[in-house]
Amino acid sequence: MTGTTNERRALAERLTKAGVLSTPRWREAVEAVPRELFLHPGVFLPAEGGWRPVTADGTDPDAWAQIAYRDESLTTQLDGHLTADQASGTVTGSPTSSSTTPVTVVDMLEELNVEDDHQILEIGTGTGYSAALMCHRLGEDNVTTVEVDPDVAARADTALETAGYSTWTVTGDGLLGHPRRAPYDRVIATCAVRRIPYTWIRQTKPGGVVLATVGGSWHYGTGLAKVTVATDGTAEGQIIGRSSFMQARSQAEVPIAGDLSARTAYADSERETELPPLLLEEWMPAFLTQLAAPGTHFTRATSKEGNRLLYLFNPDRESFASFVQSGDAWTVRQGGPVALWDTVEQTLTTWRDAGRPDITAVRLRVTKQAHTYWIDGHPSLRWQHHLTC
Ligand SMILES: C[S@@+](CC[C@H](N)C(=O)[O-])C[C@H]1O[C@@H](n2cnc3c(N)ncnc32)[C@H](O)[C@@H]1O
Repeated sequence: MTGTTNERRALAERLTKAGVLSTPRWREAVEAVPRELFLHPGVFLPAEGGWRPVTADGTDPDAWAQIAYRDESLTTQLDGHLTADQASGTVTGSPTSSSTTPVTVVDMLEELNVEDDHQILEIGTGTGYSAALMCHRLGEDNVTTVEVDPDVAARADTALETAGYSTWTVTGDGLLGHPRRAPYDRVIATCAVRRIPYTWIRQTKPGGVVLATVGGSWHYGTGLAKVTVATDGTAEGQIIGRSSFMQARSQAEVPIAGDLSARTAYADSERETELPPLLLEEWMPAFLTQLAAPGTHFTRATSKEGNRLLYLFNPDRESFASFVQSGDAWTVRQGGPVALWDTVEQTLTTWRDAGRPDITAVRLRVTKQAHTYWIDGHPSLRWQHHLTC
């Protein structure tokens, strides 16, 4: 136990006041697990022009404790390799591992409605902090956690041991679950996935729950799916709220780069849009877009003349939609076998006419063959993604 008892109590108090922490056993876990142990060798704090590395060893313990108990996600790795001890001065890069903000972690843990003897599988060990909370609540033998990055997994394992938890830390691709320790009562993913892999359903007991952020590979427009597994091996549930996590590594979006004019050179049609494409900057329209046209990227650019340009690209389907604004109107040019904007605009129009239901209205069903999403009472707001074709 380290000297941060007060900080942990204060964190538990804030989470309780926020309505996130509600059960005494999870509160005990929050008060017991020292988050600072899981942040070694250090973190990257947002700074002007990039990220400022702060190491545990190079920081006064009080200042380090203040950082550790911030109500924020703390980035611990950039670009799949860089840690704070290897950087000097402000650096740029994309976060690839972190300690998720406790409010999100605890909210998800409470949502699992665990019982004392439950076996739990976590995908995305990261720092190990969330796994430690689970170990405290359920016992180290009931927790299995999978991390794809070997260095991150090794650091998490050390931190878990230091905190007193000898749990099952597995290095591997969490999209495969961990069959050796299956079946589980609960599966929780702290990285986002395009869709819930069927293998997670297969590794969950009937009546068990899978909780994961799904929807696509945009950094917004994703939702927290909670599904319950049935005896016939299917799972059904709903999106219970907005949620944003770093994408599972093999599914991370490769940004569309290079000559955009070459990508949009051959249009098959041109028309004025009925809805403004700026809708795609909103969370629920972004979620719906990824249901209606999976694998579609949304890209923003500026023309040489300084005009705003928007694009939808679907590289797998060699299709695009490009948008140009003139006054209040937008013109769309579409090319390729899929008229992306026709598909998306139709979905968004139906959604608008249905009274713009919230993301929590979306239900989903996962089977071995397909993922189906729908909004009750609106037959046109239904999307089926087959895995067999
Ligand atoms: C946001 S962090 C996890 C936060 C962590 N649970 C915590 O609270 O400290 C996401 C982690 O998922 C890991 N990850 C990404 N893709 C993965 C995959 N396919 N299988 C397992 N872990 C993965 C990343 O390397 C990263 O460490």
